[in-house]
Amino acid sequence: MARSTVSLGPLKSKIENSEVLTLRDLDAWAFTGTALAVLGHPIKHSLSPLMHNSALADVSREDRQYEDWQYFRFEVHPSDLSPALVALYEKGFHGINLTVPHKILAVREVSTIDPAAQSVGAINTLKRTSTGWTGFNTDGYGLSTALQESLGLELRGQHVVLLGAGGAARGAAVECLQRQCASLWIANRTPENLAKLLNTLRPITGEIPLRGFTLGQVPADLPAGVVVINATSAGLHVDDPTPINLADLPHPAGVFDMIYNPPLTPLLHAAKQLGLPHANGLSMLVHQGAKALEIWSGVSAARTAPAMSAVLAPSLNSAT
Ligand code: ATR
Repeated sequence: MARSTVSLGPLKSKIENSEVLTLRDLDAWAFTGTALAVLGHPIKHSLSPLMHNSALADVSREDRQYEDWQYFRFEVHPSDLSPALVALYEKGFHGINLTVPHKILAVREVSTIDPAAQSVGAINTLKRTSTGWTGFNTDGYGLSTALQESLGLELRGQHVVLLGAGGAARGAAVECLQRQCASLWIANRTPENLAKLLNTLRPITGEIPLRGFTLGQVPADLPAGVVVINATSAGLHVDDPTPINLADLPHPAGVFDMIYNPPLTPLLHAAKQLGLPHANGLSMLVHQGAKALEIWSGVSAARTAPAMSAVLAPSLNSAT
């Protein structure tokens, strides 16, 4: 990428060293190119800047209009989200990604929301418009594309067991329903949280059978050949328990864990031992990112995903 054609002002070394920026850095903002950013708390370990800047470098070899595009990272506390979005808009930022804990909070901060993201109740991608930010959610696209790519499974017509009832599970559930899965079985540790999620989903289930069960109490009428999607946070730490005993399920078609770090969670380890097709969430990360870049740039997600994937390859290689 031709960074040297862009005036970075006093921020030059910070950005080139890929340092974490804060809102204070906007006071002296001198970047003259097309700026994108991810906001999170914490943000230090985000792979998004690496992924997006690699993809931008790749596409700018063919099309010089992307040479001055750059993706930054900002540490933003949830109490500062509102002023941060105002400031980034004023400074001319073209697009924003939001990560933990901003995805739900941001819904009330944008001027419009893509209808497909309404049911999810969370947004991870903002695009600048003349009247403010428009919010999108690309996580669902990331999930369905990753399932297809890494397990060869389509959500349409597929029986799904979804583990979890938090924000990540809600996004996954909406994607399963919007893609017309055959049935959706949501399993959670805490029955109250499960009930809340099921109630939220009822208005959009249509004819699709939607059932809930408590982890450890697998219903006898669960169909064979389900895809298991882990949207709980169990597995983020290597000594976490496996959220479900896979041997209790009748011949699962595959197991997908939305967690990508560690690459082999206890659930994926169990899937591997049972000889089941399995994949971690790294390709979901790639495809949600590629879709966000498509929203901002018009360059198709299919075009930029390989460059994003390649830069994350060392993690991918150790995935299973
Ligand atoms: P996120 O926004 O990432 O989905 P969250 O809203 O805090 O995070 O939801 C975390 C999910 O992981 C919940 O479904 C939680 O189950 P509870 O509703 O019972 O809290 C689930 N979870 C976390 N740790 C778990 C564990 N050790 N075993 C099973 N489920 C777990």
